[in-house]
Amino acid sequence: MEDFVIKSASSPLWVSKETAAGAAAYRRSTLALYDLLVLRFSCRSIWRCPSSAILDLYNEHISANHLDVGVGTGYFLDRCAFPAPQPRIALADLNADSLAVTARRLRRYAPVTYRANALEPLQIEPANFDSIAVNFLLHCLPGAIPQKSVVFQHLKPLLNPAGKIFGATVLGKGVEHSAAAKILMRIYNSKGIFSNADDSLEDLKRALKENFREYELRLVGCAALFVGKV
Ligand SMILES: C[S@@+](CC[C@H](N)C(=O)[O-])C[C@H]1O[C@@H](n2cnc3c(N)ncnc32)[C@H](O)[C@@H]1O
Repeated sequence: MEDFVIKSASSPLWVSKETAAGAAAYRRSTLALYDLLVLRFSCRSIWRCPSSAILDLYNEHISANHLDVGVGTGYFLDRCAFPAPQPRIALADLNADSLAVTARRLRRYAPVTYRANALEPLQIEPANFDSIAVNFLLHCLPGAIPQKSVVFQHLKPLLNPAGKIFGATVLGKGVEHSAAAKILMRIYNSKGIFSNADDSLEDLKRALKENFREYELRLVGCAALFVGKV
């Protein structure tokens, strides 16, 4: 018997070719390598942002009533310290494989999953989360920060007063890229896996300022770590 429910936030789910490309790479076969190659190797050696920095971000901001959007393999949700033994966890992702892999990994928490495009309003009930993470999601979304920050507008109504949105994103501008980072960025952008060539620190700062009462933003290597409070 399965421990999780898959709900489709909007059925059928029609998205642009560019939006689909940002989620298409996360098949079961690639997800099997994701933790090792992306989170352990690329984060530290290419983006110079060790996964421990992201885990610290989760540990600092996660609540016992949490929505994760763009879940990948659920690595950080599996490792982070929730402030309660049985947190409410909702998972939203465009990719059904990411949802299934993450929901299985977190089955001890009985998460509820939603197949949804973060670039559209999300229909999730009850919409009363205390924390929402969008970790490593923005750099997968098409457009530059002014377009993709619509995600914040869609997620803010799902937060309780005093709730927060947090995450990290690999930037294309306003940070220093090593030669290896430039090469990997070029490959990922050419395949549509990343769309972050025009994502700048300045634009991210502006989007956080426009969307949140309070925000925090800091760089770790090529990644911007952010928190927005409503
Ligand atoms: C780079 S992974 C990040 C995974 C995880 N949050 C982490 O930090 O390891 C990006 C995830 O976002 C999902 N994704 C990409 N585009 C999306 C969209 N438009 N709406 C919702 N999820 C999306 C992908 O399917 C994938 O699971």
